[in-house]
Amino acid sequence: MIKLILPNEEYLQSYKEAYDEYVENGISTYSFTDALSCDVLAKFDNYRNERNLKPDRVGADYYWLVDDDRLLFIGETCVRHRLNDALLYNGGHIGYGIRYSEWNRGYGTKLLALALEKAKEMRISPVLVTCNDDNLASARVIEKNGFILEDKVMISEDGKDVLRRRYWKTISQADPCFPRSRASTKQTEDKHQ
Ligand SMILES: CC(C)(COP(=O)(O)OP(=O)(O)OC[C@H]1O[C@@H](n2cnc3c(N)ncnc32)[C@H](O)[C@@H]1OP(=O)(O)O)[C@@H](O)C(=O)NCCC(=O)NCCS
Repeated sequence: MIKLILPNEEYLQSYKEAYDEYVENGISTYSFTDALSCDVLAKFDNYRNERNLKPDRVGADYYWLVDDDRLLFIGETCVRHRLNDALLYNGGHIGYGIRYSEWNRGYGTKLLALALEKAKEMRISPVLVTCNDDNLASARVIEKNGFILEDKVMISEDGKDVLRRRYWKTISQADPCFPRSRASTKQTEDKHQ
């Protein structure tokens, strides 16, 4: 069964293999964490709890899409607690990556949909996602999830000019069953500052 889980030891080996697939195939539009150079699970825990982060980083909740029949890590998403000036143009609220060997099977579309459910629980709306203008697969995933293209902005990345698409989606807050989370409270406070 395909499911979204909190990162855990059980899938760490498979995660490392997905990291290697990205390195071998030169994928840089999303980065899995190098589990050989740091404690991945501790890093995610710090992001979730907004602990020991560099000043330019915001808190984020990381999730893994896995296939528990194959004990396979399929993809990762991070849902950021809020935007900062940099994320407004490069990164947005949600990042995601599917392991190279599982592309074009619908997983990217599913992962973003599941990330949106998390954003909804966190009362983040509207939600911003960004992608490189030439990342057509990602643009397709974003558009299939109902996002609207606002603009394309030129940003500087590793000394190069890169055109980024910025997409927004408003999530209805009408559901009375919304849980109130730590992150969502912060998001609401930030908006009113
Ligand atoms: C972008 C990414 C998440 C897509 O994941 P995926 O599992 O392949 O996505 P899906 O299978 O759900 O959908 C891909 C869609 O893009 C389309 N697509 C794939 N390659 C394409 C290309 N080169 N040009 C145009 N469309 C393309 C597919 O046909 C599919 O659309 P369809 O369902 O209408 O046929 C995956 O390629 C990835 O992880 N890339 C590296 C990390 C990354 O770029 N993350 C996003 C950062 S913004």
